[in-house]
Amino acid sequence: MGDGQGRVAVVTGGVSGIGQATVSYLLEEGWRVVVIDLDTPALAAARAVFSGRKDVRVEALDVTDEARVDRLIETIDQSFGPIHGVVNSAGIAADHHLFNTSAALFRKILDVNVIGTFLVGRAAARKMAERGTGAIVNIASISGLRGSKGRSAYGASKGAVVTLTQVMANDLAEHGLRVNAVAPGPIETPMVKAVHTDADRELYHRFTPMNRYGEPREIASVVAFLLDEKRASYVTGEIIAVDGGYRGAGIIVRD
Ligand code: NAI
Repeated sequence: MGDGQGRVAVVTGGVSGIGQATVSYLLEEGWRVVVIDLDTPALAAARAVFSGRKDVRVEALDVTDEARVDRLIETIDQSFGPIHGVVNSAGIAADHHLFNTSAALFRKILDVNVIGTFLVGRAAARKMAERGTGAIVNIASISGLRGSKGRSAYGASKGAVVTLTQVMANDLAEHGLRVNAVAPGPIETPMVKAVHTDADRELYHRFTPMNRYGEPREIASVVAFLLDEKRASYVTGEIIAVDGGYRGAGIIVRD
């Protein structure tokens, strides 16, 4: 058995993109995984893929629904096994110039990306704190670290995820829990296919030293490292950019 040693991890946004790759990676590492999402067709497809497996459970949940989040986390902890890890990958994105960003869109993005991350993290942390061990990894974004164009709502939501991660790490350290975030650069997922135009793609290539988009599995492997209590035992409140060098880049010279 791998690093997961049969412990239970909950992955939100687990039927697509980064969340889906994280589910696969954690299963390979020997975790038992609860896949959470609200996309009904994708949930049905996931149930078909994992049917008959005792190490996976697939659950429908809107992470913004406080009462349902609390109930489901309690049920998972009681009936599937004590939760040791949480990955908050559920998220939504939109690119609009400031003038074209409505308050309604801004609130919706904050609700899913920030409040959803807070609710799932808080509910699971309450359970993990009873045992004094566990880890949470939030998926932030380089758009929460830099002022990307057209990202007032999305960027602000991810900036909030960064600070939320640091505050949770602070509040939960005394309970034996670690909280970190991964800030992905451009990763080939359904979200990016929906949001990035050809012009965006050209810009990301130009400003990323590694000159390519990342694969979801390249995020999953860092998430797995941060969840692992042996390899990342003294890492908390940290934001790791996994971005092909985007955040650290100055002038990029290409031949
Ligand atoms: P995706 O769209 O492929 O997957 C997101 C999943 O979250 C979907 O399955 C969706 O149904 C689910 N979801 C949305 N709202 C939900 C809700 N209220 N409750 C439960 N599930 C919900 O997107 P991707 O690219 O895999 O993104 C995952 C995370 O990574 C997001 O937080 C995103 O903001 C972040 N991210 C992605 C980057 C990229 O380049 N793909 C870059 C930086 C951050």
